[in-house]
Parts: sequence; C-alpha cells; structure tokens
Amino acid sequence: MPTTAAFNELSQLPRHVAIIMDGNGRWAEQRGKFRVSGHKAGVKAVREAVTFAYKLGLDALTLFAFSSENWRRPEEEISALMGLFIAVLGSEVRKLHRNNIRLRIIGERGAFSDHLQRKIADAEALTAANTGLTLNIAANYGGRWDITQAARRLGELVAAGELAPADITEQHLDVHMQLADLAPVDLLIRTGGEQRISNFLLWQLAYAELYFTPVLWPDFAEDTFSEAVAAFVERERRFGCTGAQIRALVTEREG
Ligand code: IPE
Ligand code: IPE
Ligand code: MG
Repeated sequence: MPTTAAFNELSQLPRHVAIIMDGNGRWAEQRGKFRVSGHKAGVKAVREAVTFAYKLGLDALTLFAFSSENWRRPEEEISALMGLFIAVLGSEVRKLHRNNIRLRIIGERGAFSDHLQRKIADAEALTAANTGLTLNIAANYGGRWDITQAARRLGELVAAGELAPADITEQHLDVHMQLADLAPVDLLIRTGGEQRISNFLLWQLAYAELYFTPVLWPDFAEDTFSEAVAAFVERERRFGCTGAQIRALVTEREG
C-alpha cells in the first residue's frame, strides 16, 4: 500500500464531482415515516458531502436536488421540498460564505416563487467572489432543458447575423451550457441503487466516470464518498487505492 504522500503524488483526484441524491423517499418509507422526513434527513447528508468535498479540495461539487420531472410528484411533497429549499438557503448560506464556498443554482428558476428566486439571487450574490469550492445546486434542472436553452442562444446569435449556421461547432454550444466555466465533471455518483441519469447533466457527463451505490441518500456520508473517489482513482489511473487511503489523505490535509 503506498503512503498517503506517495499516493497523493501518483494519483489524480477528481476536480469536479456531481451527485444524483436519490433514495430519500425509500429511506423514510423503510422507517414507516412520510417521504418528506426522508428529504429532511437528506439535508444532513448534503452538509456532510459539502464538508467532505471541501476537505478533499475539489474545485466543484454539483448536486441534483430537484429535476424538471419532479413537478409530477404529489402537490404536498413539492411544497414541502420548496419549503425545505427556502429554509436551507436561509440557514446555510452564511456558513458557506464563511468557508469561502461559492454557491450557484443551475436550472430554470423562473418556475420558482418570487420569494425563492429572491433568496437564490441573494445567496449567489453574497458568495459570488468566493474562491474555494464551487457548490452548484441543480433545481428544476433537466439535461434536455440545458441543451435546449444553449441551442436557443445560438439561434438568437444566428438571427442577429452574428453567427453563420455552418460555423457552429461543439464549442459554441458548450460555452452556453450550465457549468461551462468550471472543470469538466470527472465523476458522477448516484445513490439509491438506480442505474440511470434521469435527465441530469446529459452533455457534461460525456466522459465522466459513473459510480452507482445502493446507499440511500440520507445515509450517504464520508465513507461512501471516499469509496466513490477511490473507485474513480482506480479506474482512471489504475493505481489500486482504498477508501481508507482517501480518508487518510483528507485527515492529513486537515492537520
Ligand atoms: C431524491 O429522493 C430526492 C428528490 C428527487 C427530490 P427520492 O424522493 O426520489 O427518493 P426515492 O427514490 O423515492 O426513494
Ligand atoms: C432524480 O431522482 C432527481 C433527483 C435526485 C433530484 P428521481 O427519483 O426523481 O429519478 P427517477 O424518477 O428515479 O428517474
Ligand atoms: Mg427517486
């Protein structure tokens, strides 16, 4: 087993990790509780994931919180989720700011209440100049929406005579996609056992490593995150490393 220092030198950690936070409902149902209590328990897992990403020195962490398809859920569940989103923005943003974390919300925010849109804009403005981890929360996000809005922008440029259709390259579309200014997503983690993308980052995941775990989102903690990062390092660089080594690395950096 290489020492942490050697491992650190040899290996390449991911710079940008994206997570589909799935399994809140099942976590609650297994305990005979309402689904919303699973979403509440999921907030703690979000905190732990952000803390770990920060300690690991990631450039960016992108979390799927609410998909464009999640509006199909029962009315009570949607309003509970919106309430939770507002409450968490209120209670966590200052802490993120103190830790030099830049918060961004990606998705079609026009569908949210004016109150929530204001909270989002304030949180983004407060943390905009922070230079540590960039935390992206995908809310009312859909990968197809993202590609469509980028295509619409190009259409506008064409209509304005600023771009010829024949000159359109992948790069033109790429710069109008969400997350374009960040490091590419290296690793996608999905909790909850399903092995699908559910219309998350379709364009941005082109070369990402995919890691699926049966762990339900409220149970997600440093151990699962470490295992996923270890799997990434092993697949990418073929240096067998363990989750324990990733945790040791984080501890070493803390010290
Ligand atoms: C993910 O958990 C959270 C959201 C989609 C908001 P789910 O609510 O999808 O949980 P399961 O998949 O039903 O267990
Ligand atoms: C994906 O989970 C969306 C989020 C985690 C926010 P879902 O539970 O909504 O996805 P499906 O329905 O299993 O595809
Ligand atoms: Mg689900």
